[in-house]
Amino acid sequence: MNKTVKSEERQPIRHIAMIMDGNGRWAKQRGMPREQGHRFGVKAFQAILEHCSEIGIEIVTVYAFSTENWKRPKKEVDAIMKLMDHYLSECEKKLDRYNFRICFLGDKSVFDEKRRARMEKLEEKTKDRARILNIAFNYGGRDEIVHACNRLIAQGERYVSEESFAKALYTADSVDPDLIIRTGGDLRISNFLLWQAAYAELYFTDVLWPDFTPEELDLAIEDFYTRKRRFGGV
Ligand code: FPP
Repeated sequence: MNKTVKSEERQPIRHIAMIMDGNGRWAKQRGMPREQGHRFGVKAFQAILEHCSEIGIEIVTVYAFSTENWKRPKKEVDAIMKLMDHYLSECEKKLDRYNFRICFLGDKSVFDEKRRARMEKLEEKTKDRARILNIAFNYGGRDEIVHACNRLIAQGERYVSEESFAKALYTADSVDPDLIIRTGGDLRISNFLLWQAAYAELYFTDVLWPDFTPEELDLAIEDFYTRKRRFGGV
């Protein structure tokens, strides 16, 4: 632990967002098809979510499928959709497991009626919970910003403040992320939470997502506590 940040000066982490990268390479290293990497990726996600719940993180956001991921081979896209459908079933069956309010970030209109209805039902059923799990699915930061602009135009807004703009984003009910983690070794943000990331602390690790354990998350959190956040001040 960096001694320059005394524990009483530490800012609590309310919101952790994660770019779950490296599933494909993880599978390839094991001679498996990429889709298997995503399957193990869901397992890693569940363990991380459980840990976040235990350590009292208020908001968890995961990047599960981007607006650009449709460019992947159909087989892989279909496999991710199937994993999501399976996850929706699990959540429906075990609704009380983690006590998170589930919010999907992204344009749901591209999904067929059945999947969209299930996503919306889950959002509705969990809407009174205090903690939030944001699942970015068909999400892009630029798409979100354009969507918010169009929403405000449609509402006839003539003046927009930072606050009113933030309320038009998919993340309207979430505070900005304190910590954004990217696994898989790449040092970029890949169209994730472009507006919300303004003052987030960034943490990059070479660990591939299926290997990202609760212990690895603790290392990221420990690293976060060595940062002195100034938000543009001194
Ligand atoms: C990035 O790894 C991962 C994705 C694009 C998909 C992540 C999706 C999941 C973990 C499943 C989501 C489902 C739920 C229920 C949350 P990559 O394929 O780009 O890996 P690579 O960089 O090694 O190719």
